[in-house]
Amino acid sequence: MNNQRIFSGVQPSGSLHIGNYLGAIKNWVELQNKFDAIFCVVDLHAITVPQNPEELKKKTIEAAKIYLAAGIDPEKSTIFIQSHISEHAELAWILNTITKTGDLLKMTQFKDKALIDFKEVDSAEEIGREYSKSQNLYLEEFKNWKSIFSKSYAGLFNYPILMAADILLYDTDVVPVGEDQLQHIELARTLARRFNKKFGETFVVPEPYIQKETMRIMGLDDPAKKMSKSATSEYNYISLTDDEETVRRKIKKAVTDSGSEIIYSDEKPALKNLINIYTSFSGKTFQEIEKTYQGKGYADFKNGLADILVKFLKPFQEKMNAISDEQVLGILQKGAEKVYLIAQEKMKDAKKKVGFIV
Ligand code: TYM
Repeated sequence: MNNQRIFSGVQPSGSLHIGNYLGAIKNWVELQNKFDAIFCVVDLHAITVPQNPEELKKKTIEAAKIYLAAGIDPEKSTIFIQSHISEHAELAWILNTITKTGDLLKMTQFKDKALIDFKEVDSAEEIGREYSKSQNLYLEEFKNWKSIFSKSYAGLFNYPILMAADILLYDTDVVPVGEDQLQHIELARTLARRFNKKFGETFVVPEPYIQKETMRIMGLDDPAKKMSKSATSEYNYISLTDDEETVRRKIKKAVTDSGSEIIYSDEKPALKNLINIYTSFSGKTFQEIEKTYQGKGYADFKNGLADILVKFLKPFQEKMNAISDEQVLGILQKGAEKVYLIAQEKMKDAKKKVGFIV
């Protein structure tokens, strides 16, 4: 164990899926043995898009159970709920005052989410041709942005600042995430440096940690889109709580490429994604998988993949179901008590530095 700290979190905003597991949570489980580890259920982030309050409560508890079932050990790692520590919102406010609007305008996740709301369509990809040719096009088309901004909420726009606060509050050295969060971590780094330069050394500049093979699991219904909790079609993802019948049905319906050979290639992006998932859950190499399905077709391969997923998910869900709400709430409470001390101290320092009377 080194004395460096990792921090990461997942939004309880929908069904956590195998992309969240492979891109983030699975890595946390390995890293908790080497680092001082803090994992958060980020409910403040979840409300940046509309949530049903009762559902949000359930999803928050479910997310924590998923951490535990995946192998996060509360004896080694600290897990807690973001809204239990008010310092996250407090530091986010201070960081707001050193964030330029231009920093936030670059964020692709905001653009995607705001555009989905604005256009009332299923995905940003649907209108991608119009807007996503280049990053700058968004800014060039400011006329449209004026109307988009008038409809979208400030919380969604400022979301990356809250994420920076999460990370900086705990002197985080390393942030294990999927690729889609890289841009947000870059902002956290910028804000740490900017604050330190302006007010004196206060925050650690964090580094991202990305596992290349699983950093971007794509949607089962479209290999050009990432697997996403907020996808409108359930055929986009395999949820960690899906039962066997659902897993088999979704894998059967997953899009494939032309041809029938099972080969791992960039020319077959849909199959490549499925093989990536197969590899990650089975430990088999691409070559082994190609060999197993040589001379066989997609149907056999998909059956094999569904078997692998069910074999992982069944015991996973049994573990989840064996944890009671009371148990998990107790663990989260203990976690909050532990991180509170760190958060409070850091916040005091930041407040003093900006000139508040503490
Ligand atoms: P969220 O809830 O969207 O996703 C949680 C984690 O899952 C990863 N992920 C994926 N990885 C691979 N393939 C995919 N298709 C896929 N979809 C999601 C994400 O990269 C992420 O690591 N803003 C964050 C949550 C957050 C956070 C933080 C993370 C808030 N504060 C501080 C780290 C540190 C988010 O919305 O993640």
